[in-house]
Amino acid sequence: MRHKITGFHLDRENHWVADLECGHRQHMRHDPPWTVRPWVLTEEGRRSRVGVELDCKRCDETGRAVAEAVREALKNAADTAYEEGGLSGLCAEGRWELALDALGATDLLPVIRRALTPERGDVAIETPRLILRPILPEDAGTVQRLAGDREVAANAAGIPHPFEDGMAEAWLASLDARSHVFTLCLPESGEVIGVAGLVEDAQGGSRTAELSYWLGRAYWGQGLGTEAAQALVRYGFERLGLESLRANCFSRNPGSRRVLEKAGFRHVGHEARALRHLGQDEDLEFFVLERSARSR
Ligand SMILES: CC(C)(COP(=O)(O)OP(=O)(O)OC[C@H]1O[C@@H](n2cnc3c(N)ncnc32)[C@H](O)[C@@H]1OP(=O)(O)O)[C@@H](O)C(=O)NCCC(=O)NCCS
Repeated sequence: MRHKITGFHLDRENHWVADLECGHRQHMRHDPPWTVRPWVLTEEGRRSRVGVELDCKRCDETGRAVAEAVREALKNAADTAYEEGGLSGLCAEGRWELALDALGATDLLPVIRRALTPERGDVAIETPRLILRPILPEDAGTVQRLAGDREVAANAAGIPHPFEDGMAEAWLASLDARSHVFTLCLPESGEVIGVAGLVEDAQGGSRTAELSYWLGRAYWGQGLGTEAAQALVRYGFERLGLESLRANCFSRNPGSRRVLEKAGFRHVGHEARALRHLGQDEDLEFFVLERSARSR
C-alpha cells in the first residue's frame, strides 16, 4: 500500500525515520555501502522527499493480518455451526442458511481490533513530553493501580471505585475497533502515567467520537493532560478523518474543563444532576469540536 511521506524525525539512535500519512513510519538510513541515501542527511534533501509515496510495509502486514483473522473467525464460525448441526459440509447438505446465519452472527469487530492491536506499538503518537501508544491487555495492572486512586475516580464518570480485580481486564476486553485508546507513557522510561482515548460512533451519519482522559495523581498540573488531549484531537481529525469530537466533564472539574478549552472545544451545554457517580449527583458540562472549526 503506497502512502505519502509527511515528514521526518530522528529515532533514539539518531537514524532518520520517514513519517507516512497512514501514521506508520519507515527508517530511511544512509548507511553506505549497504544503503545509500545521502539526501536524508540534509534538511533540503528531506524536504524534497515530502509528498513522495512509499510502499508502507506495516500497512501491508496489517492488511494481511486483518484478512487472515477475519478468514479464521468466519471459518471457525462455519465449522462450529456444521458441527452443532451434525452436518458434514456445504456441498453434502446444501444447507447454506446454516452457514450464512453463523457467518452473519459472527462479531468481527473484536477480531479486527485484535488483529489491528499493534503489539509493537507502531501507531504510537508522539508529543513533546509523551508517547501515546495503543493500550494492551498487559496494561490492566497499571490501569487498576492508577485509576484505583479515589481522587482520580472521583473526577471521571467512567471510572468505578473501588476498582476491583478483573475490572481493568474486562474493560480492556470490551474495547472494539471503534475504540482508539492509548496509554500515556513517559518517553525515557516508558512508564505509563495515564490513559486517553477516542471512542467513535455515528450521529446522524456524521463520524464523531467522544474524547476522554485521566492521569495518575502524581502527574497532574504539569500540562500533560492538555498535551494528550491536543494530540488526540489531531489524531481524530487528521488520521481517523472524523468530522467532530465530543467530550464532557463534571461541572466541579475545572482542570478537565480547561483541558478541553485549550484543545479547542466549545462549551455547548450543561445538565444538572445528569448522573450519579460514587454515591453523588453530578452536574455535567458538554463540549464539541468540529473539524471545520479548526481550519477557521
Ligand atoms: C483532568 C486532568 C486530565 C487534567 O490534566 P492535567 O495534566 O492535570 O492538566 P493540565 O496541567 O494540562 O492543565 C490544564 C489547565 O487546567 C488548569 N487546571 C488544572 N487543574 C486545575 C484545578 N484543579 N483547578 C483549576 N484549574 C486547573 C491548569 O491551570 C491549566 O490551565 P492554564 O494553562 O490556563 O493554567 C487530570 O487532572 C486528571 O486526570 N484528573 C482526574 C481524572 C479526570 O478528571 N479526568 C477527566 C474526566 S472528564
